[in-house]
Amino acid sequence: MTTTTTSLAEEILELKKERRAVILAHHYQESEIQELADVIGDSLELSRKAQQYDGDVIAFCGVWFMAETAKILNPDRTVIVPDKDAGCSLVDSCPVEQVRAFKHRYPDHVVVAYINTSAAVKAESDIICTSRNAVQVVQSIPADKPILFLPDINLGNYVKKETGRENIRIWQGACIVHATFAARKLTQARAEHPNALVAAHPECPPDVLKMADYIGSTSGIIDWCVTHSHDEFIVMTESGVQHSLHRRAPGKKFYFVHNENCNCSECPYMKRNSLEKLRDCLQTLEPRMELSREIMERARRPIDAMLALK
Ligand code: 13P
Ligand code: SF4
Repeated sequence: MTTTTTSLAEEILELKKERRAVILAHHYQESEIQELADVIGDSLELSRKAQQYDGDVIAFCGVWFMAETAKILNPDRTVIVPDKDAGCSLVDSCPVEQVRAFKHRYPDHVVVAYINTSAAVKAESDIICTSRNAVQVVQSIPADKPILFLPDINLGNYVKKETGRENIRIWQGACIVHATFAARKLTQARAEHPNALVAAHPECPPDVLKMADYIGSTSGIIDWCVTHSHDEFIVMTESGVQHSLHRRAPGKKFYFVHNENCNCSECPYMKRNSLEKLRDCLQTLEPRMELSREIMERARRPIDAMLALK
């Protein structure tokens, strides 16, 4: 850490105490943010942990839909975010009006929404899922019920394949980071590192997933690489997971494949957050998540339906 980073970190820890705040950080956050967090996790863990912590304020370092979920689960607490423009391409691909139009046309479908959706879309859904439990959530729905799975096409196709379910319609949304990982680049990486195993997030395209030795959520990928007897891995997800990988398995080697959008494997939305913005939001309690009681109550039902699955 540089001197500026150290003093910023001290300021943040001081403010955190004053505000009685808990800092939650997704695995895709910059390392210096992860180092200050009370909890680092994938979207399912962060939703659960948000409820288990005491304190008046939740400072959510991730993207907007994750902070919305934290607010829905903690309606009486103040939820703040470092940057309100930290969005998600999957959320943008799924406007609530289109979901309502679909429901109107196909009222018999059970709506399974990935957690990467807006609160308004969650309010229209029957059950939420994350990359960690999507297969389990779909399996919990009676086999004769048709399903609308939204909004990630790659996760939807993966779930369809894993469950062998035919009566599932899949939205056409995609993650700008994972959907642009190319199989040809993974093939190249495997040629360069012939002893490495491949771990991939299910938002990757099917030809990438076909080459994976393990498919799972961000925490799933980290746990699998850390506990596996092997010591070299090609990791097909956002490079922020390096923080936990190197901390928990310092002797192992991890290789990241660049996606087609940039010479990196970073989510531009997640990377909008910074230590300065985290300090500022703890100081001013802005930007603050505000949702109507009605939306929170309606969106909570499908989240609780997911959390009730063990
Ligand atoms: P996780 O549920 O694995 O944390 O994924 C969230 C996400 O946004 C992946 O791009
Ligand atoms: Fe959304 Fe993709 Fe960024 Fe995850 S990595 S927050 S799915 S844009």
